Amino acid sequence: MTDIDQRGLEILQQALTFEQSMNSDEFTLGWRWYEVGAHTASITKLVVMRLVRISFKSHSETRYQLTDAGIARAEGDTASVPEVEDRELVSHDVISDNIFNDIVGYDNVKELLRESLQLDKPIHVLLVGPPSLAKSMFLWDIERAYGDFSLPLIGSATSHAGLWDMIAKKRPKIVLIDEIEKMVLADQAGLLALMEQGRIIRAKVGRELDERITVWVIAAANKTAKMPVELLSRFSIHNLTEYSSVEFRKVVTNVLVSHEDTDYNSAAAIASYLLGKSHDVRDAVRVARLAKRTGVKRAVELLIK
Ligand SMILES: Nc1ncnc2c1ncn2[C@@H]1O[C@H](COP(=O)(O)OP(=O)(O)O)[C@@H](O)[C@H]1O
Ligand SMILES: [Mg+2]
Repeated sequence: MTDIDQRGLEILQQALTFEQSMNSDEFTLGWRWYEVGAHTASITKLVVMRLVRISFKSHSETRYQLTDAGIARAEGDTASVPEVEDRELVSHDVISDNIFNDIVGYDNVKELLRESLQLDKPIHVLLVGPPSLAKSMFLWDIERAYGDFSLPLIGSATSHAGLWDMIAKKRPKIVLIDEIEKMVLADQAGLLALMEQGRIIRAKVGRELDERITVWVIAAANKTAKMPVELLSRFSIHNLTEYSSVEFRKVVTNVLVSHEDTDYNSAAAIASYLLGKSHDVRDAVRVARLAKRTGVKRAVELLIK
């Protein structure tokens, strides 16, 4: 039976402490991800396991509460993992609802991907834009949610020897291709028949194998200038643009609190410091790390030209 890991247990304990510190009048809506210092993806796992429930959801925020089973686990009762059947019943909805919870913003892209992955016939989606805009995160989130039904590929990992044999063997529902613009042209050409007719064509000693599968291709690229137009036309293309100041602040606080052990106020301060100097989330991560020794001001001076 799958069980929660050490991190999951810590989150439950954090949440219990938080819930106990609130009195019942204050605590009507539940807690937010940063109030228990946990990444939303980690919380989602606990929701799938019915140890946490979503108590409130709006356009801009989600709040959570421990379930009875969650409280029991936080208090050290290892017996109270809900029935596996229950979990399977709930998981599909919860996954499609929460699949991109760790990504801030992009509501339209999220809805498009969530809905199109549930169709009978595929819509292929290509995310295009400069670095640090969460393009790869979209692909990882789909991989995490769909597990073996997905096949992740990186275009720059040069010629994918055996790629088409692998696709024929694994028959994934979703092929995820990061940096698709760096994929060798022969493989990009192979995608044409796969995306339009679901055909996998392989030359095998003396004969041609032709098989059919229904497959969604979800891909990311920094630039599309060098990609064949006939491949581009098979995608719904979404251009992601650099974050506005408000978006940058939201993304940076989320990332620093959940991944870099930064408290909410320091994270907000780092975002403010960087405004006008950088809109790259990776810069904020570097500043947060160095600031632990030098302070935010000096870290910005040393890192940002
Ligand atoms: N909208 C966002 N929500 C959450 N994290 C983000 C977001 N945008 C950027 N990040 C952060 O920036 C990092 C880079 O994201 P990534 O998906 O690798 O970008 P890309 O593939 O577009 O270069 C991520 O690890 C994450 O920490
Ligand atoms: Mg990337």
